[in-house]
Amino acid sequence: MAIRQLPPNLINRIAAGEVVERPASVVKELVENAIDAGASRIDVTATGGGLSLVRVTDDGAGMGPEDLALAAERHATSKLAGDELSHILTLGFRGEALPSIGAVARLAITSRAKGAKEAYAISVDGGRKSPLKPAALGAGTEVEVRDLFYATPARLKFMKSERAETAAIADAVKRLALAHPEVAFSLSTGERTTLRLDACPPGLLDHALARLGRILGSDFVDDALPVQAARGSMTVQGFAGLPTLHRPNGMQAYLVVNGRPVRDKLMAGTVRAAYGDLVPHGRYPMLALFLTLPPDEVDVNVHPAKTELRFRDPNGVRSLLIGALREALDAAGHRATASLSQSALQRMVQPSGASSPSPMARPQTYASQARPRSFGFAERAQAPLADVAAPSADMRGVAREDDTDAADYPLGAARAQVQDTFIIAETEDALVIVDQHAAHERLVYERLKGALANGGIARQMLLIPEVAELDGEAVASLLSAADELERLGLVVEAFGPSAVVVREVPALLGTCDVKGLLSDLANTLLEAEEEGEGRRLLAAKLDQVLSTMACHGSVRAGRRLSPDEMNALLRDMEKTPFSGQCNHGRPTYIELKLSDIEKLFSRR
Ligand SMILES: Nc1ncnc2c1ncn2[C@@H]1O[C@H](COP(=O)(O)OP(=O)(O)OP(=O)(O)O)[C@@H](O)[C@H]1O
Ligand SMILES: [Mg+2]
Repeated sequence: MAIRQLPPNLINRIAAGEVVERPASVVKELVENAIDAGASRIDVTATGGGLSLVRVTDDGAGMGPEDLALAAERHATSKLAGDELSHILTLGFRGEALPSIGAVARLAITSRAKGAKEAYAISVDGGRKSPLKPAALGAGTEVEVRDLFYATPARLKFMKSERAETAAIADAVKRLALAHPEVAFSLSTGERTTLRLDACPPGLLDHALARLGRILGSDFVDDALPVQAARGSMTVQGFAGLPTLHRPNGMQAYLVVNGRPVRDKLMAGTVRAAYGDLVPHGRYPMLALFLTLPPDEVDVNVHPAKTELRFRDPNGVRSLLIGALREALDAAGHRATASLSQSALQRMVQPSGASSPSPMARPQTYASQARPRSFGFAERAQAPLADVAAPSADMRGVAREDDTDAADYPLGAARAQVQDTFIIAETEDALVIVDQHAAHERLVYERLKGALANGGIARQMLLIPEVAELDGEAVASLLSAADELERLGLVVEAFGPSAVVVREVPALLGTCDVKGLLSDLANTLLEAEEEGEGRRLLAAKLDQVLSTMACHGSVRAGRRLSPDEMNALLRDMEKTPFSGQCNHGRPTYIELKLSDIEKLFSRR
């Protein structure tokens, strides 16, 4: 076959293949254009998962008739002043988005330039452009994209469920909204508005934080650690979630470079390295980092979707981020090695001066203030000692006349519970500290797995069914997996558009945090849909689903246990495989040898 020059329409369709992967890419391109046009409010509507209609309206600079006529031409852009690609300050610069969209859908643009008396409209239908005509529009620009991929039906076969596409659109809007808190946003499915964000007045950290709370949730804001550092002409600002805030996927790690949301491997890898083993294997921290650097230090012309980057000084970026994150995490008192007994001992030997006051001098903790002091059955035996020796700890002793003998068991005999969180046990030659939640979680998980393998998970009816309010996507994904969840012992039913009601839970879970469980499960399900697992959902994510259940069904930190319960937990741990680690990879207990403790007191 002879070589031929391809016709423009075919070229545009080929380009569209790269730029417009799915409806969310259309939303991303149109919202970016609106931000580049200086909009202060952007409204997005997407129906049918964005395949029937995507409409983006903005109140930005708009376009006059000449510009509008050129906007949907290939390689036509107002964003490159000279011939340099090294000073890109806008989100767009390729002049490809609108012609690509017009090649594979029905595109209609209406726009009115700032200060102009009239608005104009133009449309491009599967690559065929209509002449410019006068139109009615108050200000700014409205872009409508209908019947996406009607001109390239093969692409339609690659679309995920309507819900998954809608979720991807929401994600695209959230990422851009996070990067641009000065702009007000709304997202609607046509029937209802699923996201409404007011513009946040400038003053970066606080103003970004207000929006962050709306996008990442209020638990993030409560637990977020401020991050701020500079290196030469580069700065990083933002918030890093505490390591305990981890999520099952990286969807909630927001990285923004010069106002552009990116998915950059170098940055993502650096974040992982900075958190190290603070975050369990296979889990991801929540964070939002804004990196600012001179435009010529970063090449954005790497990928058609412009979400990947190349840094001129990758090592500099890496060390800036690592340093900033480590500082924030260390300031919060989390050390990568904090859970290992050796380093725990080290810290006991060397309390580091003013920054960590001795335990005796520490003020009362919330736990001891919040609860009336009660020592349960051991009150007589322990109260005087506890009052004198442990003014700051909410500690409960277990009577020594208890018949469990320290020498009989590997994890010893329970002697006390501290802060309603840790069990202190004594073996023949060591002190064992057990994290009751982590330990119980592992036990529940192993039992759920065992039950499933042996004929099924028994259910228990809730006395009062629990209603959990969740967002629409979460509700839909839980309901679509209702049959499978029922097999795992969890019975959920619809309860209006933004809630589900739970009637039965796996009996093994005992009293569990139903709302937290459902929102984590919905997260896992949405992720599986996103990965295209569809029907094989639970097969693919079974371990994760069971582990989520175990986590929410476990004895929480903060629950008071009786001595029998404590000893029963220790005995169960001894019988259960892998009980030295919780499902998240954290240790469930540490053991301090008596010989080491003696060293602390210079007895050896
Ligand atoms: N919402 C809008 N308001 C004002 N002008 C717009 C808007 N959308 C597009 N334009 C104009 O149309 C031009 C073409 O848009 P298009 O998205 O195709 O390319 P681009 O944004 O320049 O580059 P890229 O392909 O990287 O997005 C833009 O350069 C801009 O001048
Ligand atoms: Mg653009």
